[in-house]
Amino acid sequence: MDLELTPDHAVFRASVREIAQGVVQPLAAEVDRDHRFPIEAIEAATQAGLMGVLIPREFGGAGLDALAFTICIEELAQACASTAVIVDVHTSVGTEPILLFGDDDQKRTWLPRLARGELLGAFALSEPSSGSDAASLKTTARRDRDGYVLNGTKVFITNIGHAGLYIVFARTGAESRAAGISAFIVPAETNGVRVGQVFHKMGLHGSPTGELVLEDVRVPAANRLGAEGQGFSVAMRALDSGRIGISGQALGIGQAAVDETRALMRERGHDEGDDFTLADMAARVESARLLAYHAAWRCSRGMRFTREASMSKLHCTDTAMQVAIDAVQVAGDEGTLSGSPFERHVRDAKALQIYEGSNQVQRVVIARELLRAG
Ligand code: CAA
Repeated sequence: MDLELTPDHAVFRASVREIAQGVVQPLAAEVDRDHRFPIEAIEAATQAGLMGVLIPREFGGAGLDALAFTICIEELAQACASTAVIVDVHTSVGTEPILLFGDDDQKRTWLPRLARGELLGAFALSEPSSGSDAASLKTTARRDRDGYVLNGTKVFITNIGHAGLYIVFARTGAESRAAGISAFIVPAETNGVRVGQVFHKMGLHGSPTGELVLEDVRVPAANRLGAEGQGFSVAMRALDSGRIGISGQALGIGQAAVDETRALMRERGHDEGDDFTLADMAARVESARLLAYHAAWRCSRGMRFTREASMSKLHCTDTAMQVAIDAVQVAGDEGTLSGSPFERHVRDAKALQIYEGSNQVQRVVIARELLRAG
């Protein structure tokens, strides 16, 4: 295994960095302060083709691999963690289920529009009474003539209100838990689809999160993704790669904290205590990066990567949290002021330890994978 990026990956990183540092980063403080959707950043990402990184060229995307996707999210998050999670959720759990489980018609209908950024993707799995235990979800999809009628409420939906399409998981059968769940493509404009409460979060203020309410939402059978009863596998497979994307987001926050701490120390002076802290921060981010890139590398090669993705998500997000807090400690009082990037990184990092499977869930997945192995 070659631990250097290929020339193609290095060139891609440089091109994303140009947009991230040139357009996205200058907006980050304002987006956070005003709790506003970073529309200019998303437009710049769209212009650069970043909304279709994983979508094959035949469907209008860039046709790049999981490592390129991780690098893309890492660079965006270093500039603005809100922008990064919008692009991440769109690209992974909001689009990949169609890529991986869609039939030809579904791919031809939806992927070009997702690749062009004409539609923003989102993922609707969690419910008020089912978060970590996703298989206990209650939303129903009742068979009706040539389609289904969906009813239920989904919560903590990233890209709420801005998404043009939701991948929705609902119960189609009487079978208990995972076996009764199916996945659907639900366009946001469908009658009965409504945005409920939009949440105020401690961080990631530019990334809208809220409730998706489904009231007698009629979708054609052609919008079911995969077979009836296959929905839980669709969700779990999408989350496996989604967790690599969240790792990239964590790396970006962690790297930003390291770089800003280093810049502050150079400018202001530093003692040995600061030096030790900076060294630990940088070593932690670098080790987390290796785990994330390894998981992405396995995914790109078609190898099993469930365990590696969960290890990466666990370690990268814990690292981002730790490093963000360490950076405030070095910065001192200045780092605690509202509007300082140091305090923003702390607020932004926390949700990463919770969404796309809390870090407790990652430990469940890792332990099961370890015990399953021969
Ligand atoms: N890939 C494909 N299929 C899989 C899979 C995987 N990685 N893992 C499980 N499955 C399938 C299998 O077919 C399995 O059946 P078998 O027993 O025949 O193998 C079936 O799913 C059921 O699997 P489990 O018995 O493991 O299911 P479980 O109920 O015990 O699940 C869990 C346990 C891993 C904790 C799971 O519930 C889980 O991942 N929970 C967290 C959910 C989550 O991450 N939610 C985040 C929502 S998105 C978000 O955060 C916000 C946003 O907008 C992005």
